[in-house]
Amino acid sequence: MWQPDRHSRQPLYEQIAADLQRRISSGEFPPGSLFPSERKLAERLGVNRSTVVAAYDELRSIGLVESRTGSGTRVNEIRRGAMSLHAPNWSRYAEDGSFLPNLPYMRKIREAVARDSSLIDLASGELSADLAPSGEFAALLGDYRYDAYWGYDNPQGYMPLRQALVSYLDRHRGIRTTETSLMITSGSQQSLYLITQCLLSPGDAVAVEDPSYCYSLPMFQSAGLRPFRLPVGDRGINPEDVFALYKKHRIKMLFLNPNFQNPTGTVLVPERRKRLLEIASELGLPIVEDDPFSLTAFDRDVPAPLKAEDAGGSILYIGSFSKIAASGLRIGWMVAPRSVVERLADARLQMDFGLSVIPQQVAAEFIKSASFEPHLERLRKGLRLKRDLLIEALRERLPGLVAFDTPRGGLHLWCKLQREVHDGRLLDEALKRGLAYVPGSVYGSDSGFVRFTFARPQEGEIADGVARFAGALRKAIV
Ligand SMILES: Cc1ncc(COP(=O)(O)O)c(C=O)c1O
Repeated sequence: MWQPDRHSRQPLYEQIAADLQRRISSGEFPPGSLFPSERKLAERLGVNRSTVVAAYDELRSIGLVESRTGSGTRVNEIRRGAMSLHAPNWSRYAEDGSFLPNLPYMRKIREAVARDSSLIDLASGELSADLAPSGEFAALLGDYRYDAYWGYDNPQGYMPLRQALVSYLDRHRGIRTTETSLMITSGSQQSLYLITQCLLSPGDAVAVEDPSYCYSLPMFQSAGLRPFRLPVGDRGINPEDVFALYKKHRIKMLFLNPNFQNPTGTVLVPERRKRLLEIASELGLPIVEDDPFSLTAFDRDVPAPLKAEDAGGSILYIGSFSKIAASGLRIGWMVAPRSVVERLADARLQMDFGLSVIPQQVAAEFIKSASFEPHLERLRKGLRLKRDLLIEALRERLPGLVAFDTPRGGLHLWCKLQREVHDGRLLDEALKRGLAYVPGSVYGSDSGFVRFTFARPQEGEIADGVARFAGALRKAIV
């Protein structure tokens, strides 16, 4: 994001005016479009509001923009002779369309994290650089001879990666599958997207965990689905609730994250797994098993996937590299019956023609390499240490103010606040203090919960992050 240069001799307001002028010429702000409010832009650029007022004055004085009280500052229509040229109403287009925007709190958090690199990030669900296998990748990339030809590949995924994943799934997850039943996707997010768009229809009822993964909720709504919630207790969801939902709403699919669930960290207990598989087989109900966290199990007690016991063929299994290696590689996978894989691979031809082969080659080499298992071991230890640092800081700084179960895997700690707070105020106060976390309401839960990610911050930042949270909490208690 562009920022004015504070060391330049050119005054800040002139730099801002010049930047806005560039954006008008490039078409980012077409004629008739609305500029951000003075307050918002000042906040985004970290300058006084009067500096932005001066920049807008400058643009007004050369006739580029006009301001009206109550309706903000707009780029002027261009006049040529008697004709005025009208740009399309881009804001209207941007608001229409079938895709819903992501949740406002999530957009606010993303913007804050992108804007301020010094912010302590207990919000983003990904690994910090020191936990990622960066050294291992560098070594592999140095040695590796890539396939010289990079043409369109099979939309189902790069064959050597599919082969590597077949043996990975057998070795690490107890899942027996074949290259033809496996599809590579752009993270598990794309698996979820393909499932909702291609296997379900608008109006279909689906069951989701409550609380559950925040980016999937708007996705369900964008696909016109009707999500019904299943409460997640400390033993996971209750299978009998699935039965009841099916009877009442004829749900078409169940979305489940049974191992170290995001956000609660819960593991679905064995007897409930067994019953769930029985119910799914009895009703012919498909279950999407979203399993990105299992291999992080801190004490090596890795929960088995439902898919490993799926004699009835009810499970679409999805996995990802994001939480165990590198989210930016965008490598995910889905194990599904051949008819489903073929349907989804066909849809990919309308969507992206398949994932780039380069990250797939990197992932295939890494999974096959001798450094993969030692990396997992190091990752588990690193995550456990960060979890412990977070818990220690919470006990020290917020005694009696937060309650939580200690997660045994995953990247997150789910806390219940022991006082009534105003969710929005708490987030604003935290961001003001340079801390990001995710309010629980984003996951569909009632207010009064928060999710902290311990995987993203540096070890040394965790206690400071909790101290900032404690300061924010004092301000937000109702
Ligand atoms: C439960 C769950 N599913 C899916 C995803 C999507 O991850 P990715 O697309 O990076 O694999 C996430 C990311 O946070 C998640 O927590």
